[in-house]
Amino acid sequence: MRKSRMLFSALAATGLALAAAVFGSAVFTAPPASALANGLALTPPMGFNNWNSTKCNADFNEAMVKGIADIFVSSGLEAAGYQYVNLDDCWGETKRDAKGNLVPSHVRFPHGIKAVADYVHSKGLKLGIYTSAGTHTCNKAGFPGGLGHEQQDANTFASWGVDYLKYDNCNNQNVDAVQRYTKMRDALKKTGRPIVYSICEWGKNKPWNWAPNVGNLWRTTGDISDNWARMLSIIHANQSHASVAGPGHWNDPDMLEVGNGHMSDTEYRTHFSLWAEMAAPLLIGTDLRKANAATFKILSNTDVIAIDQDSLGKQGTVVSSSGGLVVYTKQLANGDRAVALFNETGATATISTTAAKAGLGSAVSYTLKDLWSKATRTTSGAISASVPSHGTVLYRVSAN
Ligand code: GLA
Repeated sequence: MRKSRMLFSALAATGLALAAAVFGSAVFTAPPASALANGLALTPPMGFNNWNSTKCNADFNEAMVKGIADIFVSSGLEAAGYQYVNLDDCWGETKRDAKGNLVPSHVRFPHGIKAVADYVHSKGLKLGIYTSAGTHTCNKAGFPGGLGHEQQDANTFASWGVDYLKYDNCNNQNVDAVQRYTKMRDALKKTGRPIVYSICEWGKNKPWNWAPNVGNLWRTTGDISDNWARMLSIIHANQSHASVAGPGHWNDPDMLEVGNGHMSDTEYRTHFSLWAEMAAPLLIGTDLRKANAATFKILSNTDVIAIDQDSLGKQGTVVSSSGGLVVYTKQLANGDRAVALFNETGATATISTTAAKAGLGSAVSYTLKDLWSKATRTTSGAISASVPSHGTVLYRVSAN
């Protein structure tokens, strides 16, 4: 602490410009010394969560959860890497039992949560659940939250075979966020069961500064919704925290809306491409029992998934941004770069960069693979494409 304060005053004395020149932005946004060491989420979590498609409607129930698990297996999504089947708000009864334990909704989950967890596990998948770091969850029906019940609820989840917890922020009684989220981290650890820990405080308490030591992922923004303007604003917010992402600790720009019907397939391909470019969790948010072929095609693009799941765990960064034409680059474990050319504007435009600007070393030529069209070509360094309005061209670029 004292050391960093001394360093900070030294920098202030020398002037910020000099500091930036010497240390770059690393001084102000250095990744934490030790990330949450639970060994989980070494690549961004992939799976499903019901919230974006069902909210608390009646179709969020045991049949849905089992149906999604079945489709993960039969459609090849499990083979493509999707693993977690996650329940969001409204899975429970509004009252704890006589011993203070959480109780699954008798209507939605008549056989309990352990039974669905067993089913999901029998398919080789994992089960996630939700509660809030407050007295109650967000839904106005008033479901009990984990504040003051951290160990008891963590034990309940572990006893049900839960593998992932999303911990929300509603009804938090203004108790300090770091304190609330750390308490559940420690409670989960004490269960002895590996449970991915997803912090959902909507970016309210600058989680990029502390959450890497507390959770495996943390929401950077308020809720996504299935429309272009909201998705775009989330991209803008999430991209600025790239430096703190890494294996076991990820920025979370919220769950996918792909397939929910209020964006075009071009926009959904942008959504999926940029979530992969930003090493974001890929949690499918549409009811796959009703999804069309175009939705499956987007969600099953294994070349794009490989960018998201790359073992180096770097979040892509902005190379250039001008007039709504944005270039990102993401460093990959084998030395390649994933270069995204993103057109935010209302008209088709040519977006250009170079292999050098994208961070590739000098080479005689480079191979560009378009991860949506699958076309490959070589270039001596120029990377350029005509990109439709709201579209993204995503290249995997290798030096030859
Ligand atoms: C908050 C979260 C959402 C969802 C709802 C459930 O809004 O940010 O992702 O979990 O609560 O009520």
